[in-house]
Amino acid sequence: YVIGIDLGTSAVKALLIDRKGRVCGEASEAYPLIQEKSGYNEQNPELWVQGTLTAMRTVVREAGVKPEDIDGISFSGQMHGLVLLDQKRSVLRNAILWNDTRTTQQCREIEEKLGEQLVSIAGNRALEGFTLPKLLWVKRYEPELFAKADVFMLPKDYVRYRLTGHIATDYSDAAGTLLLDVSGKAWSETIAGVFGLALTLCPPLVESHTSVGTLLPAIASETGLPETVQVFAGGADNACGAIGAGILSEGETLCSIGTSGVILSYAGAGAHYGGKLHYFNHGKENAFYAMGVTLAAGYSLTWFKETFAPGVSFEVLLQGLEETLPGANGLLFTPYLVGERTPHADAHIRASFVGMDASHRLPHFTRAVVEGITFSLKESLDILRGAGHRIDSLVSIGGGAKNDTWLQIQADVFGADIHRLESEQGPALGAAMLAAYGSGWFDSLAECASVFLTRSRTFHPRQQQAKRYAGLYEIYKRIYEDTKQLNE
Ligand code: XUL
Repeated sequence: YVIGIDLGTSAVKALLIDRKGRVCGEASEAYPLIQEKSGYNEQNPELWVQGTLTAMRTVVREAGVKPEDIDGISFSGQMHGLVLLDQKRSVLRNAILWNDTRTTQQCREIEEKLGEQLVSIAGNRALEGFTLPKLLWVKRYEPELFAKADVFMLPKDYVRYRLTGHIATDYSDAAGTLLLDVSGKAWSETIAGVFGLALTLCPPLVESHTSVGTLLPAIASETGLPETVQVFAGGADNACGAIGAGILSEGETLCSIGTSGVILSYAGAGAHYGGKLHYFNHGKENAFYAMGVTLAAGYSLTWFKETFAPGVSFEVLLQGLEETLPGANGLLFTPYLVGERTPHADAHIRASFVGMDASHRLPHFTRAVVEGITFSLKESLDILRGAGHRIDSLVSIGGGAKNDTWLQIQADVFGADIHRLESEQGPALGAAMLAAYGSGWFDSLAECASVFLTRSRTFHPRQQQAKRYAGLYEIYKRIYEDTKQLNE
């Protein structure tokens, strides 16, 4: 067996997987967000560690497997979060998370000081969520604390450190710091130098399937696992999501609709998206991916349900899709409830319903929300296609893949075949696959995917609906320009 651990933003999930890729057990532990001020999002790293240990113990105990039959453990982690440690390896402050937006000023400074060098080295523009702006924020506003900082870590790296005593990060997570030379696979002296940061602050780099060590004796006795279990580095949640959906070679693309939404395509070395998309190292060795993000994807639907249909279940709400026609009778929605990353990189724009008619009822609004989320993801797809990616099909995962009508809407809006996976486990499965490959069960991640993953159903675009959506999409795209002054 292997254990895949997904250290998420609301909970940690542990998945126990056998050699055929079957899920033999699952456990999760939740932890809270700390939101002291508007835009602040922090977490206490100790709760990640305790949650992970509990989830590991529970998953092994409940599945009733022999602990000595567990070969390896690996991780998927929420990206970008800053964990700062002093020389004694004590955590200096709460972790500042990927969805914290206090760093607009630091992002400006990064863009100004590095100019075009930023995208050519780090592959990405400066966004509030990334790690370097957070480091600069702590340096500026908490200088005494920053002076004590000896090394920084990303969330899953800190948990792995506590399990093994070894400090490391992998390329896919390091890529989200803005301090990595993404194509050169090394910490960038240029970027660190411009901001007076010592490179020793950055943890050593390894591949995602590299073993960083075994369990510390105290951890082994606390979890009931043997001290010989290998712990593999793991990767960023998006990289692990890609692995867990089999996005492992050229031409493969993922649509993931969870709280946020992602369109992610496998990409070659040295690709260039001019900062319009994220360009990160993959969890597969020497591979990359390009990704666009809709910040409020599933979150738009949750917000809508909680605000306008609080007593209704998602299942019942989504029945509205059966009762309405494409285009929701002229009602459009833009999902910018918390600003938007791709394509606008604008933290200040806000969402809208456009075209409301007295005849519109709850089902029309539901359909408009679902279609608006899908249109927003289409904008990322357009950038990928414009950059030369041929995208005839996508694998769809997350909450958005649970409803057949929404999958059909994705096929019609994207103009591509949409595949659903038989048993979809998201990033935790990608983490388990890294442990399986690292443990030597397979010669490659692709071989592992061919055993672990099965596509269950494909949705094809329908000509008439695709045409209708293409027309609406042109109007949808104009809403941003026409409404952005509202929030300037
Ligand atoms: C990616 C990003 C999010 C987090 C969520 O750039 O910020 O997808 O990784 O955990």
